Amino acid sequence: MDELALLTDLHAGNARQGPGGDDETRLAIRLAGLVAQTGLRIADIGCGTGASAVIFAHDLDADVIAVDALPDFLAVLEGRAARAGLSKRITTLAASMDDLPLAADSLDAIWSEGAIYNMGFENGVRAWRPFLKPGGVLAVSELTWFTADRPAEIEAYWNREYPEVGSAGATIAFLEKHGYTPISYRALPEVCWRENCFRPLEQGLRGLRRPACSRCGSA
Ligand SMILES: C[S@@+](CC[C@H](N)C(=O)[O-])C[C@H]1O[C@@H](n2cnc3c(N)ncnc32)[C@H](O)[C@@H]1O
Repeated sequence: MDELALLTDLHAGNARQGPGGDDETRLAIRLAGLVAQTGLRIADIGCGTGASAVIFAHDLDADVIAVDALPDFLAVLEGRAARAGLSKRITTLAASMDDLPLAADSLDAIWSEGAIYNMGFENGVRAWRPFLKPGGVLAVSELTWFTADRPAEIEAYWNREYPEVGSAGATIAFLEKHGYTPISYRALPEVCWRENCFRPLEQGLRGLRRPACSRCGSA
């Protein structure tokens, strides 16, 4: 099994593949002013197995384009949508977020939970803006520094892995510079990381076994 297959396997059975929570998705929907709108067309970019895509289809009766680079995740989402009777509302699209075959001015909302970092926050918000209709909404979750007083080891790690991490103020200022008007900003509560993201991963990792030795059969 290669690394990607292993990672896909580890994540595919979980409700989410990143930090977040159904309550937070619903709160963001309300803050974004999407409740009570009809005929919405929403793209969920980097949707994974579709935790939020299913909510848009169910709660808003929206038409959802669920985009992910990994067809295995989309297959899980299709099963999930079918079981919830939402298949007609959700169209899956296997595509890379930096090369989306979407029409200009075609979306009421672009949603991306825990995924935009794959192309970089700044690249993402610039590249996706043309797909929004006038007045359309962008909702993204992104790694953010909450304090300038940071342990050196953690700072060094993120400077190496994802130097784009910024403060909330800098991130909002960047959005304004690129034509967005801020509606709301909120830190995800810890439960979204610990319980909804890390715990299922930890359980999955425990379930992984080293393959048996081909000569002696021992693990
Ligand atoms: C941390 S997961 C978040 C998934 C989902 N939004 C959630 O909150 O459960 C990031 C997702 O981005 C997808 N992804 C990574 N690179 C991508 C790319 N270049 N284009 C589209 N999707 C990508 C991954 O397959 C994965 O499903």
